[in-house]
Amino acid sequence: MVGIFDSGSGGLSVLREALKLLPQEKYVYFSDNAFCPYGDKDPEFIKNRCRTITELLLSKGAGIIVVACNTATGAAIATLREEYPVKFIGMEPAVKPAALSSKTGVIGVLATAGTLKASKYLNTKGFYEEDTKIVEHVGKGFVELVENGILDGPQAERTVRQSVQPLLDAGVDRIVLGCTHYPFLRKVIERIAGPDVQVIDPAPAVARHLAEVMAEEGLLSPAVPGAKPDIELVTSGPEDSARKLLDLIMNE
Ligand code: DGL
Repeated sequence: MVGIFDSGSGGLSVLREALKLLPQEKYVYFSDNAFCPYGDKDPEFIKNRCRTITELLLSKGAGIIVVACNTATGAAIATLREEYPVKFIGMEPAVKPAALSSKTGVIGVLATAGTLKASKYLNTKGFYEEDTKIVEHVGKGFVELVENGILDGPQAERTVRQSVQPLLDAGVDRIVLGCTHYPFLRKVIERIAGPDVQVIDPAPAVARHLAEVMAEEGLLSPAVPGAKPDIELVTSGPEDSARKLLDLIMNE
């Protein structure tokens, strides 16, 4: 069983990609929506939430855990790997593919304040910023939009524009989605950014990495033709919004 968690519904953008590659697996998805957002919370607080969630996922039989949250990956994955005898797959903002493919040499990163401060991100950034200008912006209000199921329309457009316009003004031709909530706003981001800007979501690469590690660890379930996805949803707050988004990705 694959355990997967986020501060809220954002990690469903990673589950969506995992389901494409590994539809035969059982999943338990935990949304910590009673404590969402994580983006500007103290890393120690996030670490403790991650421990509690990990223990819950292990008690449900998870054999591997996807930290489908960039902020939690930055704050806690090293600790989780030290403390629990299970493999953890984390998020990595896609700075590398963006930097290597950029034609203008200017790339944008949208992420939470926590991710942009975490040493994991700062190390990656340090590696690429010699050759590439990296412009960052917090996706202010994006998480709240997604948690409220507002994925398009005038309010989403206004909120997204406030964070995307400064990147466009700086001349970016790639925008990295450094928070798992943001792919649910991808259509709006792409509309505002225009056809010359490529938006990059790391979720497909994370799903591929999950599949590789599961194969190495002998954790893959045998393929069952026509099997329906088996997903348990657990939330720390009200379930409705995560349930709606889960139905949305299942209908896709
Ligand atoms: N979805 C999360 C991330 O990838 C966290 C957003 C938040 O809770 O602030 O960073």
